[in-house]
Amino acid sequence: NIPEFVKIVEVGPRDGLQNEKQIVPTDVKVRLIEMLVSSGLTVVEATSFVSPKWVPQLADAKDVMEAIRNLGGARFPVLTPNLKGFEAAVAAGAKEVAIFASASESFSKTNINCSIEDSLSRYRDVAIAARKLSIPVRGYISCVVGCPMEGAVHPSKVAYVAKELYDMGCFDISLGDTIGVGTPGTVVPMLEEVIDVVPTQKLAVHFHDTYGQALSNILPSLQMGISTVDSSVSGLGGCPYAKGASGNVATEDVVYMLNGLGVKTNIDLKKLMLAGDFICKHLGRSSGSKTAVALSKV
Ligand code: HMG
Ligand code: MG
Repeated sequence: NIPEFVKIVEVGPRDGLQNEKQIVPTDVKVRLIEMLVSSGLTVVEATSFVSPKWVPQLADAKDVMEAIRNLGGARFPVLTPNLKGFEAAVAAGAKEVAIFASASESFSKTNINCSIEDSLSRYRDVAIAARKLSIPVRGYISCVVGCPMEGAVHPSKVAYVAKELYDMGCFDISLGDTIGVGTPGTVVPMLEEVIDVVPTQKLAVHFHDTYGQALSNILPSLQMGISTVDSSVSGLGGCPYAKGASGNVATEDVVYMLNGLGVKTNIDLKKLMLAGDFICKHLGRSSGSKTAVALSKV
C-alpha cells in the first residue's frame, strides 16, 4: 500500500548549499531554482532567514527571494528560526515558511542556541504570526533517530516535538535524520510512535545519506503511508551544525525509485539531471546521485 502520488520537497538550494564553504553567487542559486522548477518540482525550499553569522552561505536570502518573486509553478518555503527571521522572510515576499526544532537537547543548543522548550515557544510565536497572514508553516524535527552529541534518540522525544508542532498548526512535519545514521531498524519504530500522535498525511521524511541508508529508509516510510519526501538534487548538503553529516538523499535517486514503483511524481528526470549537472559543475564536483552518474553514461 504505497501512495499513488508522492510529493517531493526539494531542499537543494537550502539544505544542499547551506554548508558550502565557497559562497555561491546569487544568480547561480536563482538559476538552480529555476531549473529545479522546470523539471516539475512543485516545492523548492529556496533559502533561510537565519543569522548570516551562523550560516554565511545564505546571507543573500532577500536577494534570492527578490529574483524568484515572479517565478510561477512552485512554492518556495524558507527557514525561519524566530520572529525576526519570519518578518524578514515575509518582507522579502515569502509565502510559506518552515520552523526547525530538534528531538535532541544538545543539537538544539548547537543549531539554534536554545533549549527544545525555548525553541518551541519561539516557534509558537512564529506560528501565530503566520496564521494571521495565512502563511502555511512547515515544521522540521532534527535528530529523529540519532544525534551527533547524544547518540541514539528515543522515539518518544520525537513524538513529543511532533505533537507540539502539529498543535501549533504545522501543515507538514518533516522528520529529519540529520546525520543519516538511521536504518529501517530504528526509523520504523520511530515512525510508529510519531504516527500515534500525528496523522500520516501531515508527515514527511528527510533522510541524509551518510551511511547509504536513505532509500532503504524511504521505502518503509512510504509503506507506512507517508507521501512527502525531502531530497536534494545531486545529493548536495549537510547541516553546518551536525559534524559528519553528509548530503541529503539525491532527488534523482528518489525519482528513479518512485518511477520503478509506478508512483507518480510529475518530475522529468532528464531535466532534473540538467539542474544537478549545472550546480555540480559550478561547485566543481561530481554528482552524489548514483542515478545521475549511471544515466549520464548510457
Ligand atoms: P543567537 O546568536 O542566539 O541569536 O542565534 P540572538 O537572538 O542572540 O541574536 C544574535 C544576532 O543574530 C543579533 O545580531 C540578531 O539580530 C541576529 P547582532 O546584534 O549580533 O548583529 N539574528 C538574526 N539575523 C538574521 N536573521 C535572523 C536572526 N535572528 C537573530 N532570523 C539563531 C540564534 C537562531 C538566530 C541562530 O542560531 C541561527 O541563525 N541558527 C540557524 C542555524 C541553521 O540555519 N542551521 C541549519 C538549518 S537546520 C538543518 O539543516 C536541519 C534540517 O535540514 C533537518 C535535518 O536534516 O535534520 C532542517
Ligand atoms: Mg537536513
